[in-house]
Amino acid sequence: MKHIDIYEVLNKREIAGSEVTVCGWVRTFRDSAQVSFLELSDGTSFRRLQVVIDKTALTVDPECTKLGASVRVKGNVVKAFKGEGNELNALSVELLGKCPAEYPIQKKRTTLEFLRTIPHLRLRTNTFAAVFRVRSVAAQAIHRFFHERRFYYMNTPLITASDCEGAGEMFRVTTQPWNASYATEEEYYKNDFFGVKAGLSVSGQLEGEIAATALGKIYTFGPSFRAENSNTTRHLAEFWHVEPEVAFAELPDVIELAEELLKYLIRAVLDECPDEMAFFDSFVEKGLIEKLTQVANADFAVCEYTEAVGILKKENARFQFPVEWGCDLQSEHEKFLTEQVFKRPVFVIDYPKEIKSFYMKQNQDGKTVAAADLLVPGIGEIIGGSEREADREKLVAAMRERKMDMSAYEQYLALRTFGSVPHGGFGLGFERFVMYVTGMENIRDVALLPRWTKNIL
Ligand code: 4AD
Ligand code: MG
Repeated sequence: MKHIDIYEVLNKREIAGSEVTVCGWVRTFRDSAQVSFLELSDGTSFRRLQVVIDKTALTVDPECTKLGASVRVKGNVVKAFKGEGNELNALSVELLGKCPAEYPIQKKRTTLEFLRTIPHLRLRTNTFAAVFRVRSVAAQAIHRFFHERRFYYMNTPLITASDCEGAGEMFRVTTQPWNASYATEEEYYKNDFFGVKAGLSVSGQLEGEIAATALGKIYTFGPSFRAENSNTTRHLAEFWHVEPEVAFAELPDVIELAEELLKYLIRAVLDECPDEMAFFDSFVEKGLIEKLTQVANADFAVCEYTEAVGILKKENARFQFPVEWGCDLQSEHEKFLTEQVFKRPVFVIDYPKEIKSFYMKQNQDGKTVAAADLLVPGIGEIIGGSEREADREKLVAAMRERKMDMSAYEQYLALRTFGSVPHGGFGLGFERFVMYVTGMENIRDVALLPRWTKNIL
């Protein structure tokens, strides 16, 4: 269909004076005696294109003026009568698809809760279209960041036999009939597609380590799956995961990379999505641009878990879950640390080994591991990372303590046998990042079709 993007019509100065064809959905219609105005959006720009219809010269099918209808308009581009940019004087308006009055996206702002029930149409609203344009720009920036630094992009398998986080949150992958009955679990899996228990990957890290210990610096950017029952505003059953992994790196290197990435992405979104960010700043989170600009220019804090627990224990009265050394930090604790104590992003490092994964490097103290979680205001944990245990004996001991099935990890252990190196990396939850930069408060509003327990709309 020969036409040009509304973005170009609005923004290209040199286009004024020429005749163009655009396509889009009707967002508003205003009528007066002589002229009527259609505002069109085709998704390419936050701003809409005003189409001016001279009623003395052109009769338009009333269906073309209904909210949500899709149309093709030919017209002359002129400088906008009011405001910046261009508008279009219509020569013809043609209906592509009509839209009945029950169209659920009406002019007045509907609630996010309601829009969550119509995920297939909610992207036609300003808010959601802006979220997904920002999401796309951030995704491109992720690839750019790593490419510029010679990180290779790896595609790790989504079906796996090894549970990276060991939290028992793997979705099972099976081709067995629903009523298959076997005397033992072992027999069940022996007859299954892969001959062993398989599931959807919760993280590409273990496979990422294979690549990093050959290519040096790699990253993955793909979906991870977690069958966790937590019905929260920051968990999805399927989320996108950015996981760099670096050879010849220790915990401070991992922290530095994470901070650099986050700042780079914030700057990219601020630079490339000015209209969207101004909208979020006005209607979603007041002061968002100022906050992000500060974050992009500030040093992040670093705090040991033990020190964090010391701070939090004094505040135990305010928490639903009181804090003790050894406990996992809950969202309320994470938010308190980053919002009230440090008032900026903070890496909490050196967690007790019992609450972290088997693969983390064991510290000298025998009690903690070289982990680093990045906590940010409004969200809590946005990044989880660590230096990895490079010593085979120590790793095997940690796995034994957790009663892990070693057979699924032979390749992983072999990396520690043949030229083992200090290495590490982290995982950034992409949806959590999008929440952070847009100010959206529910992770279900930053994924196209969010999946969570009992929800697969
Ligand atoms: O902290 P996590 O579990 O760490 C890992 O998976 C490591 N293997 C990463 C690595 O070192 N390569 O997850 C990393 C991040 C979290 O900080 C969070 O942002 C996000 O992934 N995340 C989720 N996002 C949405 N929904 C969920 N259910 C998430 N679980 C984790
Ligand atoms: Mg984590």
